[in-house]
Amino acid sequence: MTTQFINGYRIDVLFSAQMIAERVETLATQIAAAKPERLLVVPVLKGSFVFAADLMRAFHNAALSPEVDFMMLASYRDKTVSSGQVEILRDIETDVRGRDVLIIDDILESGRTLAFAKDLLIARGARRVMVAVLLDKPKKRVADIQADFAGFECPELFVVGYGMDMAHAFRELPFVGHVVQ
Ligand code: IMP
Ligand code: MG
Repeated sequence: MTTQFINGYRIDVLFSAQMIAERVETLATQIAAAKPERLLVVPVLKGSFVFAADLMRAFHNAALSPEVDFMMLASYRDKTVSSGQVEILRDIETDVRGRDVLIIDDILESGRTLAFAKDLLIARGARRVMVAVLLDKPKKRVADIQADFAGFECPELFVVGYGMDMAHAFRELPFVGHVVQ
C-alpha cells in the first residue's frame, strides 16, 4: 500500500487517482445507459465537488448534456442527540418538475443526508431522482436509501481526499486515503 506523509499526518492510499479516473468513466457510461431525460445534476456540497467535476466531464464523453445546480446540506448526525436532522444551507435555484435529477455526493453512510435530498426533490415534482456516490459505506446505513451508482465500497475507515476533508484539510488530494492516527 502506498503511504504519503502530509503536514505530519500519515495517509494510506485506498483509491488512487488512476483507479478513480477509470471508475468515473465507467459510472458515466452506466448513468448514460439509464437514459436520463432533461438531466439536472445536483452535487451536494462541499465533499462532492471534485467527484462531481470529474463526472460532469465524463458525461460529455458519454454523450450526456446535463445542467448542474448545487445544494449545500449540513447534517447533525454526530452531535450528542442523534436527531438526524438535515439543514439546507444552500438550495438549488432550478425547477425540477418533470425532470430527471442525479444527486451526487462523496459518501453514502447513514444515508440521512441523501434520503433527505432525494425526498425533497421528489416532493418538488422531479420525474426520477437517482443517486451517485463515490464511496458507499453500507454498514452504518440508517435511512432506507441506496445508491443507484457507486464508485467503490469503502472500508469502515475515516477517509480524506478527492474533495473529502478532515477538519477542512486534505480536500486537494488527488486520491482517497485513510488518515492513520
Ligand atoms: P450520511 O450518509 O448522512 O451519514 O452522511 C455521509 C456524509 O458524512 C458524507 O457526505 C461525508 O460528508 C461524511 N462522511 C462520512 N464518512 C466520512 C469519511 O470517512 N470521511 C469524510 N467524510 C465522511
Ligand atoms: Mg457530505
